[in-house]
Amino acid sequence: MTPEMLYALRDQAGVPSHPVLFLILGVLTFALHIAAVQVMLGASALTLRGAFSAETHWRRLAAAMLTTAKIAVSVAIVLGVAPLLFVQVIYDPFWYTSNVLSAWWVIGFIVALIGGYMAMYLFYWRNHDLVRDGARGTAWMVLSVALLLVGFIVHSLTNQMLFPEAWMQWYAPGGAIDPSGRSLHYWNLPRFGFFIALSAPVTGAWLYAYRRYLIGAGEGDAVYLDWVRALAQRLMVAGGVVAVLLGALWMATLPAKMAWFATSPWVWLALAALLAVVALPLVLGPQLDRGLWGYGIFGAGAVALIVVGAAREALRYVTLLGTHGYDALDYRIQMDWYSTVLFFVTFAVVGGVTLGYLLTVAWQAGQQRQGTYTPGPRVTALGQWSVRLLVLWTLAYFGVGLWVWLR
Ligand code: HEM
Repeated sequence: MTPEMLYALRDQAGVPSHPVLFLILGVLTFALHIAAVQVMLGASALTLRGAFSAETHWRRLAAAMLTTAKIAVSVAIVLGVAPLLFVQVIYDPFWYTSNVLSAWWVIGFIVALIGGYMAMYLFYWRNHDLVRDGARGTAWMVLSVALLLVGFIVHSLTNQMLFPEAWMQWYAPGGAIDPSGRSLHYWNLPRFGFFIALSAPVTGAWLYAYRRYLIGAGEGDAVYLDWVRALAQRLMVAGGVVAVLLGALWMATLPAKMAWFATSPWVWLALAALLAVVALPLVLGPQLDRGLWGYGIFGAGAVALIVVGAAREALRYVTLLGTHGYDALDYRIQMDWYSTVLFFVTFAVVGGVTLGYLLTVAWQAGQQRQGTYTPGPRVTALGQWSVRLLVLWTLAYFGVGLWVWLR
């Protein structure tokens, strides 16, 4: 594939804002997506481990983690759409080719995801009180975790796009065209394993936040709190070591054209960020129980994932530029201020107020252990504003569309 052929596959309409914006948003939303995926997988694994245990602490944790996992699946899916939008805007020649080459799997991904999500709910419906009754219907939860590993398909698509030199061979092996899209053509298990293994330290960080939340709600069971803390630390240290080892294996198995990445500052930066997060709870000690520190570990973990995401993007950008002559940042710009402003206003104002309201209500309701929770006047005002903003947004969206159409 010559650079000219790759450029010819671009959308001739150009992009509505500077491509660097899409690149940065791609990295940020990928980090959020992968964080949600990791919490989902970690919480599901802890549910499986705990639900069948005879120990009350494990069963209590399993009940909490099942609730977490259910929500994390939907967050992972929603936050998966965002990097999907950005990658297909600036890397469209690569992303679409990779998808078409494995089209059967792209559609299968959605079916498997629906199956995994439903299996988790079936397990949930069968187990309303894990602490009291223990678990029933194990197979549903095992099936759910297995199906939710469909991220492997995205991993394969993401990697296939980096090999334009192999596309013709994959499309027409030995000269005979195979348009079925039934094969996944490339993967790197250490790379996939690295992102999946990071679930353990990320879930450890999540458990610190869970523990801090319980303390805030006046949790009386100090033994349980200590137990959660010890488990969180074990997950962070042991999981961190496994992830770093898999990361090293990924670096050692990089194909020749990407070998530069293994010794680049990006890798050292990502490693330093991950190690700093693992060390943070040890440094903070008893401070973890005060203020926002207990939540801060997860916040620091999110920052480390942004660094890892940036390194992963550097690998893609430099490989496509250096080896294949494709610069994602020289996309033709067809500046569209309305859609750019609408995007950020939707994200910051509508999203901020609406999500802010929902999260505040959920948070405060969970912190109140007795009686019925009633939101205060400020929270109620926030709720009313989120409805008004959604109505305004809908009117603006359809209003501008109609105006452009009728003009
Ligand atoms: C719920 C199960 C899922 C899992 C376990 C999962 C896992 C992963 C993993 C491991 C990666 C990194 C791949 C790599 O760089 O090698 C990834 C990236 C990504 N995932 Fe997911 N994912 C899931 C669901 C989704 C969904 C539902 C979407 C879209 C709606 C999605 C969209 C993406 C995108 C766009 C990327 C980045 C692609 C790129 O930058 O080229 N994922 N996911």
